[in-house]
Amino acid sequence: MNCCVVGLQWGDEGKGKVVDILAENSDVVVRYAGGANAGHTVIIGDEKFALHIMPSGAVRKDMNCVIGNGVVFDPEIFIGELKGLSDRDISLEGRLFISENAHVVLDYHKAEDQHRENALGKNKLGTTIRGIGPCYADKIGRSFAVRMADFRDLDQLKEKLERIVSYKNKVFTALYDAEPISAADIFEKCKGYAAALTPYITNTTKYLHEGIEAGKRLLFEGAQGALLDIDHGTFPFVTSSNASALGMSPGCGVPSSMVDKFIGVVKAYSTRVGAGPFPTELDNEIGETIREKGHEYGTTTGRPRRCGWFDAVAVRYTVAIGGVNEIAMMHMDTLAGFDELKICKAYKVNGVETTFFPSDAVELSSVECVYETMPGWSEDLRGVTAYDQLPENAKNYIAAIEKIVKIPVTMVGVGPKRSQAIPKG
Ligand code: IMP
Repeated sequence: MNCCVVGLQWGDEGKGKVVDILAENSDVVVRYAGGANAGHTVIIGDEKFALHIMPSGAVRKDMNCVIGNGVVFDPEIFIGELKGLSDRDISLEGRLFISENAHVVLDYHKAEDQHRENALGKNKLGTTIRGIGPCYADKIGRSFAVRMADFRDLDQLKEKLERIVSYKNKVFTALYDAEPISAADIFEKCKGYAAALTPYITNTTKYLHEGIEAGKRLLFEGAQGALLDIDHGTFPFVTSSNASALGMSPGCGVPSSMVDKFIGVVKAYSTRVGAGPFPTELDNEIGETIREKGHEYGTTTGRPRRCGWFDAVAVRYTVAIGGVNEIAMMHMDTLAGFDELKICKAYKVNGVETTFFPSDAVELSSVECVYETMPGWSEDLRGVTAYDQLPENAKNYIAAIEKIVKIPVTMVGVGPKRSQAIPKG
């Protein structure tokens, strides 16, 4: 069985935990999109692992891990994670494979991300400033791209960097009045990256297809969420990759027909970080309560997350575009204690009701939400170990969502630990 785990909202749904659980029955975990803008938290026992670029499966000592060609790879952050895991006696040697075709995020990408955001002022996108957009732009533009394979030939890389940095400096100084950056400094860093990373760089497409032939079970791990997808998300307030399930095939070279199950991860409510329309946003005391109870602060940037009611119109859309088969619903415990809860079941656009999600940011900003109101529950769910133990109102809440999004919820999260995810038949 090959599975793909994707976020169905604006990211931070709890994919890391779901991947970590499913990894038990997998041989290889494959990260295929995004970069160090992601933040996956895995809690095992008393240990908390916050990973940005490393596949979540890395914390299991016997798991093989692939970073596919679709990832924009930040060597500095990655090497820090490698060391953090090694300090905890977790070695990746011989079981981590990084695509030679993955593009490399370097200092000038992060500088460009920051300069652009500053230049946009109040219209900024609210990026993570991890250089994601500029690196994907260089990938598509081709002329200034650096890929992992370039670390194999340092003489050529030196020449390439001099050419790229000279161009970037012209842009930085002319457009942003910024300090030029040094190609020599970046090259020095690259020499260190090459020494640390060369043993892991390989043809991961070949590795995956050989694995498929040998009957290995693959687990594909999406980053961010489908509403941040560059093509199908709330453009321009999106990330620069196909963060929906659609990014899987181009991001690792394995067709989606080889995936037996697409599992979509949602929170029992909605959150969003950064700018952009958010129809069910609760810019009030209820939203603040959810933020505090759910610890809704960014893993990567520490920014407070915007919180809102569950948007079933949005999730129905991301289920449809991704061909998602079932849902893992996280953070049910966070919703305990509210007298009533709301689920957005339709939008009104110019007074006309629709259940189809308009991804265009301007249109989405003007919708009015039509809610179904459900009674809440007061019981603390964190000790619940079986679906039957959930209060009736919690079960009804899940059933109401299943009815609108038209696929079943098969896992319910009642706390951050691996053990706090209960199966639902
Ligand atoms: P970028 O990916 O850094 O360019 O940021 C673009 C948008 O995506 C911003 O609104 C970010 O806050 C958001 N974003 C990027 N990665 C994540 C994530 O892992 N979780 C939630 N939001 C994210």
